[in-house]
Amino acid sequence: MKFSKFGQKFTQPTGISQLMDDLGDALKSDQPVNMLGGGNPAKIDAVNELFLETYKALGTDNDAGVPNSSAIISMANYSNPQGDSAFIDALVSFFNRHYDWDLTSENIALTNGSQNAFFYLFNLFGGAFADEQSQSVDKSILLPLTPEYIGYSDVHVEGQHFAAVLPHIDEVTHDGEEGFFKYRVDFDALENLPALQKGRIGAICCSRPTNPTGNVLTDDEMAHLAEIAKRYDIPLIIDNAYGMPFPNIIYSDVNLTWDDNTILCFSLSKIGLPGMRTGVIVADKEVIEAVSAMNAVVNLAPTRFGAAIATPLVKDDRIKQLSDDDIKPFYQQQASLAVKLLKEALGDYPLMIHKPEGAIFLWLWFKDLPISTLELYERLKEKGTLIVPSQYFFPGVDVSDYQHAHECVRMSIAADEQTLTDGIKVIGEVVRELYDEAKK
Ligand SMILES: Cc1ncc(COP(=O)(O)O)c(C=O)c1O
Repeated sequence: MKFSKFGQKFTQPTGISQLMDDLGDALKSDQPVNMLGGGNPAKIDAVNELFLETYKALGTDNDAGVPNSSAIISMANYSNPQGDSAFIDALVSFFNRHYDWDLTSENIALTNGSQNAFFYLFNLFGGAFADEQSQSVDKSILLPLTPEYIGYSDVHVEGQHFAAVLPHIDEVTHDGEEGFFKYRVDFDALENLPALQKGRIGAICCSRPTNPTGNVLTDDEMAHLAEIAKRYDIPLIIDNAYGMPFPNIIYSDVNLTWDDNTILCFSLSKIGLPGMRTGVIVADKEVIEAVSAMNAVVNLAPTRFGAAIATPLVKDDRIKQLSDDDIKPFYQQQASLAVKLLKEALGDYPLMIHKPEGAIFLWLWFKDLPISTLELYERLKEKGTLIVPSQYFFPGVDVSDYQHAHECVRMSIAADEQTLTDGIKVIGEVVRELYDEAKK
């Protein structure tokens, strides 16, 4: 069968699609697997209980078991392409209540997960543009700090349109302990990017907290990025999939701001509802209209099921309470446990951990590891432990000469204590052996 160029673009195997298949296959195998590789949120009892309760309440309005007419009407009908209006109204009041952003319903659109939002936004702001003389010019999405989210890499309909900046690496302490580092935006390199200076950037985008590193860009870094975006008249897209106020998996003391040049993307996935495929975009009216138009073509209307579950939780702030009281402390504890286990497993070996500031991962740096972390991934897989090697997390960067991109791994902390303990034990054994052999 012959596929169009579009078809070929989206069906060609990518490194990461093969890896994801690999992770999926490993889970299906009859051998026990220490799954530290995926992006699934953890199963947290309080979260599951609340969702189940809310789900049950969708079917009945009261103790007499009378069907909840508004929920049924909502699910039995398409919404308009912007998304479920009751959820949008609840979100408008919620954000205005907590952040004073002065939003109206014209500032919010829903998507089928935030991955769907990035597909729209990166194709809206990256790719071929017509200049004033109607000549075609290519514009890119600027990633101010890579490593960045793997899921951005292949969303462009044609080619890849990224300009990316490598990080400053600062050694830092964490809870008074050595052995940590933090990435910071290299603003000199960013401001000197020819693509930025020549008007070839369509938008700036960062995830905050960042998948894969757990980094949280500081308020100063965000303010600087917002200023650059305004100066070049391009939007700043903030991927808030792990950020505040939900799921609030963020431990550093920072603020969330919004203005009409900012496109904020939220998701219900990391509060524990990835299967609901619900994303939320907060942006200027013009962007919301564009997203709604794309929704109409691609989906007719976004799914309403996640909206139906989340609306009551947003209305009375239970989504925030759940995030503050259960989700955030859970991951913070997981991060501390994983750090402790890693330090025990690797002792004086050259392990550096990115300061855990949020998200559901730890990012480990094995400096001067004698093999690439892609090869390390294979060795760990043979021993039933899955992580993700770092080289895939650099969209827009040719990593062939960048050693650091081959020395790190992403490790999920969403697994239960036993899996974390067993997986980290294997990582410790394999990595120690590699360094020991290199010394001989
Ligand atoms: C940083 C980041 N952004 C976006 C997404 C996409 O999430 P979803 O489409 O489930 O909302 C993910 C998922 O892992 C992510 O880690």
